[in-house]
Amino acid sequence: MSSAPTVVVARDLEELSQQAASYIAQTIAAAASARGRASVALSGGSTPRRAYELLAAPPLRDTIPWERVDVFWGDERCVPPDHAESNYRLAHEGLLARVPIPASNVHRVPTEAGDAAAVAAQYERDLRDYFRLQSDALPRFDLILLGLGPDGHTASLFPGTAALDETRRLVVPNRIDYMPHDRVTFTLPVLNAARAVDFLVAGADKAPKVAGALAGDPTVVASRVRPTDGTVRWDLDRAAGQ
Ligand code: 6PG
Repeated sequence: MSSAPTVVVARDLEELSQQAASYIAQTIAAAASARGRASVALSGGSTPRRAYELLAAPPLRDTIPWERVDVFWGDERCVPPDHAESNYRLAHEGLLARVPIPASNVHRVPTEAGDAAAVAAQYERDLRDYFRLQSDALPRFDLILLGLGPDGHTASLFPGTAALDETRRLVVPNRIDYMPHDRVTFTLPVLNAARAVDFLVAGADKAPKVAGALAGDPTVVASRVRPTDGTVRWDLDRAAGQ
């Protein structure tokens, strides 16, 4: 059953990052303790960078059982993993290269698999293998981190795109004419199967869409993230939460 979101407003990005990193660490550790392992999907863009750095440093780093954490990405740009625009590179540099997580626990989106459709299909196979999913089952992530665009998009679920209406596939390609690279993204059913979702959002340009999402405005993509049996948290700075 979907409960009301928890909204935490920080003074600035630094405090937002500290509060979000603490919540992320606690959530991962609790999941690993409860079920043996924790599955986390990271978000891209620039907002989570500082939170990743805080998770990679004491004290938070040492509260997470990295060998029992499996990391995925909620979306990815179809670029090589060392590309400046790669969400994998953002997380690798800020977090994964700095913590004792086994390489086999890091499930990078295989952007080398071909075009966006091929990448999405391969990543979906990877998901199904990891979660040992039967044909129509959904992966239930312990935590999915998300950002928010000024247009209200989250992951790479952009307004007006067919990806929003996908109900069968777990991962789909998406092409947006105002974005430089093709993308692949989790679909809404995957986001809404999560045990916990945390939006990290900073900046005044996001405020209208934050307000829309929290008000349940269906024209705001992020308002459609309502986990069936999970929690939603919004880590905002004052500008985004105004
Ligand atoms: C991406 C992200 C995207 C991002 C928002 C916010 O691949 O771009 O997944 O959903 O979270 O666009 O990006 P910023 O954090 O850079 O504002």
